[in-house]
Amino acid sequence: MVQINRGNSFEPPPPVRRIPIIAGNWKMNKTVEEALSLIDEMMDDLDAYEEVETVICPPFMALSPVMDLIEDTNLKLGAQNMFYKESGAYTGEISPLMLREVCDYVILGHSERRQYFHETDEDVNLKVRAALKNDLVPIIAVGENLEQREAGRTAELIANQVEIALREVNSFDAATVVIAYEPIWAIGTGKAASGQIANEVCQGIRQTVARLYNQEVASQVRIQYGGSVTGDNIAEFMSQPDIDGALVGGASLKAADFVKIVAQTQEAVGKKG
Ligand code: 13P
Repeated sequence: MVQINRGNSFEPPPPVRRIPIIAGNWKMNKTVEEALSLIDEMMDDLDAYEEVETVICPPFMALSPVMDLIEDTNLKLGAQNMFYKESGAYTGEISPLMLREVCDYVILGHSERRQYFHETDEDVNLKVRAALKNDLVPIIAVGENLEQREAGRTAELIANQVEIALREVNSFDAATVVIAYEPIWAIGTGKAASGQIANEVCQGIRQTVARLYNQEVASQVRIQYGGSVTGDNIAEFMSQPDIDGALVGGASLKAADFVKIVAQTQEAVGKKG
């Protein structure tokens, strides 16, 4: 049999360059008026950092007015939650059809939703699938509490959360999602995880995605760290190989702090291999 020389076909593919993504989760803060004034204060500065994808996630009420305000910028908009049905008798809920008119992203499965509103991994999965079906990029939040960490259950628990969240999601869609690792003990406590600990878990998440799909999908998925991220510690997270950005709570509510986080992230881009 004639061996065909396929030239350099055995060379490994070039490494995927993941665009860093910083998302500001405002949680239940800011009236519409306050939201517009905060955006106005930081939007030009944020817009200057073109190598970072910056996503603002204000409360539902502010989505539409903020969309109008940031229309001519590179800034993206995200919601903080969503129901998985497209319409119907679900008083008080917001559907993917409504969100897709105004935003590109939606945070799903945040630990506060799991804790206070009893969302299960199965609910998160239904929401992830509904978001993807409607062209919204889910930012899937996962994380362990202190008791679970101390019991040595972190890796197993996070793998399980990721696996259920991605059930019945095809590999094409899976490659587009963002996964946010937010250890509950680091949220709003001022006690961020170390870069090394955060990276260990984020690496584990990437391995889980590789096991569920393949290496190519795993190398495309963007993974954020979240929990007491500030302008002073973001560089440490961004220097880690498996961390592609951050989901920021408190520090996203102050213009100078959030701009610093995005600025530091852009600076880190050049330093990453
Ligand atoms: P903090 O940045 O305030 O710790 O909040 C993190 C968070 O929950 C973002 O979703």
